[in-house]
Amino acid sequence: MPNSNLGKLVVAIDGPAGAGKSTVAQKVADALGCLYLDTGAMYRAVTWLALQNNLDIEDVDAIVDLVNRTEIVIKPKDETSGGRVRVYVNGTEITRDIRMPEVSAFVSPVSTIAGVRKTLLEQQRKIATTGGAVLEGRDIGTAVLPNADVKIYLTASPDVRTHRRINDLAQLGQVLDYDSVLQDIKRRDEIDSTRKVDPLRKADDAIEVNTDHLSIEQVVEKILEICRKHLGIAVD
Ligand code: DC
Repeated sequence: MPNSNLGKLVVAIDGPAGAGKSTVAQKVADALGCLYLDTGAMYRAVTWLALQNNLDIEDVDAIVDLVNRTEIVIKPKDETSGGRVRVYVNGTEITRDIRMPEVSAFVSPVSTIAGVRKTLLEQQRKIATTGGAVLEGRDIGTAVLPNADVKIYLTASPDVRTHRRINDLAQLGQVLDYDSVLQDIKRRDEIDSTRKVDPLRKADDAIEVNTDHLSIEQVVEKILEICRKHLGIAVD
């Protein structure tokens, strides 16, 4: 029996690159009947724009100025968006552009910039307060939504994450070799978890779910079970 309170839950899903967050978070939001926000897509949109404007990645002031003048709109995925949300900056669609290797290479350094994080965090909080929501990223449970009803920290081994990322990119027509994807994942883990502002870490009250030996459906069901338990809905 569906419970309408499930759709009002605020759920934070964090974890390293390739742990399966996007696919899982989208399915959890669909099952709960609430909004889904891929916050990584917002950091990718800023990075794409900085590259597009030929900004020096070290030029923090210029990038912060840019993000403050930019409107980022995230719309739900559909049949032709490659399984990902649709992303627009200042009215231009960049859904596929933000998954390109150049953007992946620069997104972690750009997301270390405090001014970028401040602006995006405010936008993410605003989106989450419109009702129930599933937000996915690196700092949702620790910084963006410290009072989220349910916090999940998804993990998987670097090897499993590398294989998943290769498959994801293949769906977008990009063919990459194992070693370069593994190196990129390790480099991003390092930058994301050691940056000064809101680094990637498990919130004290988050529930860790290791996805190495679980299918997407099993991970989704585990999270839905945690949501039901939070509301005191009987689980058999
Ligand atoms: O989930 P993703 O791989 O698309 O995220 C891209 C980058 O964005 C990731 O390397 C770190 C950054 N990010 C972040 O710093 N904070 C978030 N809440 C989401 C993503």
